[in-house]
Amino acid sequence: MTLRFAIFVSLLALTLGCERFPNGTETNFNWWVCGGFKGLTVKSVKPVKADGSLDYPINLTKDLNIAVEFVNTKQVYPKLKLDVTIWNFGDYGRCQWLEIPTFGLLNSKDACERSFPCPLKTGEQKVVVKLHLSQYKFITQFFTNNAPYQLQYKLSAPNGDSICIRAQARAFTH
Ligand SMILES: *[C@@H]1O[C@H](CO)[C@@H](O)[C@H](O)[C@H]1NC(C)=O
Ligand SMILES: *[C@@H]1O[C@H](CO)[C@@H](O)[C@H](O)[C@H]1NC(C)=O
Repeated sequence: MTLRFAIFVSLLALTLGCERFPNGTETNFNWWVCGGFKGLTVKSVKPVKADGSLDYPINLTKDLNIAVEFVNTKQVYPKLKLDVTIWNFGDYGRCQWLEIPTFGLLNSKDACERSFPCPLKTGEQKVVVKLHLSQYKFITQFFTNNAPYQLQYKLSAPNGDSICIRAQARAFTH
């Protein structure tokens, strides 16, 4: 390949589209804390199979199990509300995360009912958090298959304390 041709090809790649799996999501599950309260430290977040091994890429048509390790030195939280937000990447040639409208279906849910093993206790905790997305297949079936998604999982207590975790993952959607 001549240098001129190589430059042409790389310019084409820049203008034609976005990186298919940004931020290493082809092989890596990215996560970080996007909000919390004093006394809370999140140590690890990992999508897991029934045997505890890493479940990656994730499959949005199934219910996800996420193993979370954290330390809470503040107080016990018996009641928690859950808000989930989902983004996809690079729609319409814009190479950025864009929120997918879910019509409020994933907002203001009772986290204790189906997702978090309440109460949220104090001390070192290892829990498995559930993300029941299979019931939203009628939405997720329209998501691009084998593509990167960003998810936010936010728990809020009645006193205003909240925990927010954001993750980026490669996902199957049908
Ligand atoms: C990439 O992932 C890391 C965590 O692995 C995160 O801290 C960072 O904000 C992500 N970057 C972008 C641009 O999304
Ligand atoms: C995702 O899960 C669904 C439902 O269990 C299954 O039919 C499908 O084959 C899975 N997709 C992949 C790529 O594992």
